[in-house]
Amino acid sequence: MIKITSLDHNGRGIGKIDGKIVFVPFTLPGDVVDIRIINEKKNYIEAEVCNYIEESSDRIKSPCIYFGTCGGCDIMHMNYDSQILFKQQKVENIVNKYLEDNVKINRIVKSDNVLNYRNKVTFQVKEDVGFYKNKSYELIPIDKCLLCCDRINKSIKYLNLLDLSIIDKITCRYASNKLMIIISTKKHINNLHIEKIKDIADSIYMEYNGRYELLYGNEYLTEHLGKYSYLISPDSFFQVNIDVCLKLYTKINEYVNTGKNVLDLYCGTGSIGIFVNEGNNVLGIEINKNAIRDALKNKEIKKLENISFVCGDSGKCINNIDFKPDIIIVDPPRNGLNKITIENILKLMPNEILYVSCDPMTLVRDLNCLSKHYDIKEITPFDMFPNTKHVENLTYLLKK
Ligand SMILES: C[S@@+](CC[C@H](N)C(=O)[O-])C[C@H]1O[C@@H](n2cnc3c(N)ncnc32)[C@H](O)[C@@H]1O
Repeated sequence: MIKITSLDHNGRGIGKIDGKIVFVPFTLPGDVVDIRIINEKKNYIEAEVCNYIEESSDRIKSPCIYFGTCGGCDIMHMNYDSQILFKQQKVENIVNKYLEDNVKINRIVKSDNVLNYRNKVTFQVKEDVGFYKNKSYELIPIDKCLLCCDRINKSIKYLNLLDLSIIDKITCRYASNKLMIIISTKKHINNLHIEKIKDIADSIYMEYNGRYELLYGNEYLTEHLGKYSYLISPDSFFQVNIDVCLKLYTKINEYVNTGKNVLDLYCGTGSIGIFVNEGNNVLGIEINKNAIRDALKNKEIKKLENISFVCGDSGKCINNIDFKPDIIIVDPPRNGLNKITIENILKLMPNEILYVSCDPMTLVRDLNCLSKHYDIKEITPFDMFPNTKHVENLTYLLKK
């Protein structure tokens, strides 16, 4: 029997046996549990619960029947206040432990919706549509995912009518009342019998070897944020929680004064650059050519003359641009910025940098490289992904 006293960065409960740390998923500080040891290493033990003796007052009954098996949510057993506290402390602990400078961390910005917020999901496919069990390829068939929006959930029973033996994965994306279904296969297939899902989809694609072929309906989804509309291709990145995305972009816009040259690196469909374009000159750089095609169309929709886009590697392209940025906004994938990108940002040495990150560990690594020349003024966490361990962060840096 052990008492859980804290949480690690992955949301696992931490207790001790004879002074040795034990990680127990799906437990909370205040839980007292009997455990079964799964893996014992020199410095720590991994275990699972076999019996709850006392339950933490922060514990709720997860509303999802797949929680703990499907491998998606990590912390659906915490009430929302505890989830928020966990994420706030996670960012604070990582920053205090790994960042060389002392930095102000603002209160985390909450999500209005804790369930049904996701506008994109990829289902694994075997005999049924579902998710892989945590750390395995065993498929858990599901009839709904509580994180996903209603329209995606309603599609699942129709997706199960497809010939799943020839399908690898199915991705559903939703925006402004429209549903896009992307069927991934190993090779080009002449007839996917999509008539079974035509009634529920506004757009159907087949994807094989990274190629996207429109089989039915609209080429794009359209998302609306503030006064802007964004076309989104099947493989273009867009934030999964629109409500928190709007809060994030609004905060970014508060930092960007007018009359500036703004360089938007890792710009995707141009969403951030367009959001902050008013009164500024913006250049966006992005590696995915379909996302750049979307960005150019998004610029056209509002007839924006003050914004341009370049397709290429952000880190390398900024060496060859005729653009002297006052502000650089970076929003890289989870692995953060590489060495060359940081070196090239430092060559441009803008007055301000805004760093959007979905991984606090790579964020602090990169901030330590920038902090010789920049004061890290503040970090604002955003709860973009309720019920999971993940947290988005916006950092504001000002040249020394
Ligand atoms: C987290 S997304 C951010 C997109 C956009 N800023 C937004 O808010 O929708 C990261 C983007 O970086 C792009 N990307 C990945 N590696 C890149 C690279 N080396 N150079 C430029 N873009 C890259 C991805 O295609 C993706 O669109």
